Amino acid sequence: MTESPTRILVTADRIQSRIRELGAAIDKDYPNGVLLVAILKGACFFLADLARAITRPVRIDFIGISSYGKSKTSSGEVKLTKDLDSAIDGLDVLVVEDIIDSGITLSYLVSVLEQRKPRSLRIVALLDKPDRRVRPVDVAYVGFQIPDEFVVGYGLDYAESYRNLADICVLEVPPGPVVR
Ligand code: PRP
Repeated sequence: MTESPTRILVTADRIQSRIRELGAAIDKDYPNGVLLVAILKGACFFLADLARAITRPVRIDFIGISSYGKSKTSSGEVKLTKDLDSAIDGLDVLVVEDIIDSGITLSYLVSVLEQRKPRSLRIVALLDKPDRRVRPVDVAYVGFQIPDEFVVGYGLDYAESYRNLADICVLEVPPGPVVR
């Protein structure tokens, strides 16, 4: 890629500093440790840094959800594409998400995971776009509330590109019909 149609919204330093604060809060709330469940694929970068900011015992697992993918609409159609490796009944589960936009992904996931009887189920999201919410989601920990702009980097993609940017950036070129 030669062009760089992005501007920095949250620097890598601010991301890491906020993650240290989130880790400290999670340490306090989960003295016996926690199972981190990351939603593929975008949350993997956040998971890797958050897990290392937590000093209590941590286990990790992954879940795949296909929402509206390349032609995302607010239809609310969501399905599981990769299930967890292990059962979560009786466990303290913290879902790790990179961004909450409409809330459709997380409201679906919470309803799926609640049926499995975890001891507790909470959400940590690095980014929250409250202006775009169509489904209510109860988020225990939020890194940053951001305006309604299309962001990429630190795990977030546009058509699978830009995930490896260290900063969270606004894609200046409007991404057309793709909405996150
Ligand atoms: C993005 C993001 C969240 C979801 C948030 O995932 O990672 O999972 O959209 O949007 P919502 O609140 O409107 O449901 P995406 O479907 O782009 O998959 P990816 O993580 O693999 O990029």
